[in-house]
Amino acid sequence: MKLNRIYPAGAAVLAPLAGHTDLPMRLSARRHGCRYAFTEMIDAGSLVFGNAKTMTLIRRDPSEDFLGIQLVGSDHDTLKKALAIINSLDFSVLDFNLGCPAPKVAKKGEGAAFAALRPEEAVRAFSVLTEHARIPVTVKMRILDENDPEPTVRFAKRLEDAGAAALTLHGRMMKMFYSGPVFHAVIRAVRENLSIPVVANGGALSAPLYRTLLAETSCENGMVARGALGNPWIFREIADADASPPTVEELAEEMEAHFRSIVDFYGEELALRISRKTLLEYLRGRGYPGELRASISFLNSADAFRTLMKAVRKGPSPRYWQTLEQNPSAERRLAPSPVS
Ligand SMILES: Cc1cc2nc3c(=O)[nH]c(=O)nc-3n(C[C@H](O)[C@H](O)[C@H](O)COP(=O)(O)O)c2cc1C
Repeated sequence: MKLNRIYPAGAAVLAPLAGHTDLPMRLSARRHGCRYAFTEMIDAGSLVFGNAKTMTLIRRDPSEDFLGIQLVGSDHDTLKKALAIINSLDFSVLDFNLGCPAPKVAKKGEGAAFAALRPEEAVRAFSVLTEHARIPVTVKMRILDENDPEPTVRFAKRLEDAGAAALTLHGRMMKMFYSGPVFHAVIRAVRENLSIPVVANGGALSAPLYRTLLAETSCENGMVARGALGNPWIFREIADADASPPTVEELAEEMEAHFRSIVDFYGEELALRISRKTLLEYLRGRGYPGELRASISFLNSADAFRTLMKAVRKGPSPRYWQTLEQNPSAERRLAPSPVS
């Protein structure tokens, strides 16, 4: 089955983010307007093997109206077996990862390395998925050249011909990992040469930057990745240009709600350790003192969490509010509230 339209125009998609887009983070994003989301990349071999952590990562909450699963792999047999499992589960789409530059993926010749070094084989592996999947199959890749759009367009068209229902394009080459400029013109060229939806990705770290990404690439949809970490409000700010950033109280309430989901999902014993990076993300760039952020690394009891939340509710340092005024395009903002 191939749907002509997976995402309505303008809808933002929450990216797969390894180590982050678990059920608690997705539920947090969904509380603030995110509808389209993905699991983090799932290694085809680990899925076939029934690895316990992998099984946790693919759990879907009944409230999740759209959830894509992202698969990384290359061996046809393993991909077919993984697909048999995915076909028996309930996902909205299956996305193939051809964009991950992480050494543990690259050294197996998978992810971005697969696309860059063995493009013909990558297309064949992708065809295995489109031929056997009972849900639409999409692909996420990176640009292959910063200056010349041709190699990226050519490869993307091969994936379209192989049955891709949509293609997400990260506008940075594999060698750049996650830094440096996003090459909008290459994304735009792919958008103009394909008939399937092209989802623009890279650098949408705030709602205004998301709008710039869509405007510069002529894409109707964009994928939000790091911009959503500790910042689920980015979805409401994308949907409504007049929406305010969170107040200090909203920040604290969401941190508590997210923490509660982590406890529910992973159990109390693991929750404190697992939640540290998440809680830190909420405070990043929001003017809270370094010592408070550092204290999160040692969070080891429910009491320590309550003490942390009291300090969060006191608000950021007064200097933060002045900095915000001087920098109206700051990526991570708070709305002034009575506590400030
Ligand atoms: C910590 C981290 C984990 C990521 N995990 C995945 C992943 O599992 N699958 C994937 O396709 N991309 C993954 N990515 C890439 C993002 O989905 C996205 O393409 C990239 O961060 C660029 O978007 P941004 O500039 O808006 O952050 C990851 C990125 C980061 C920073």
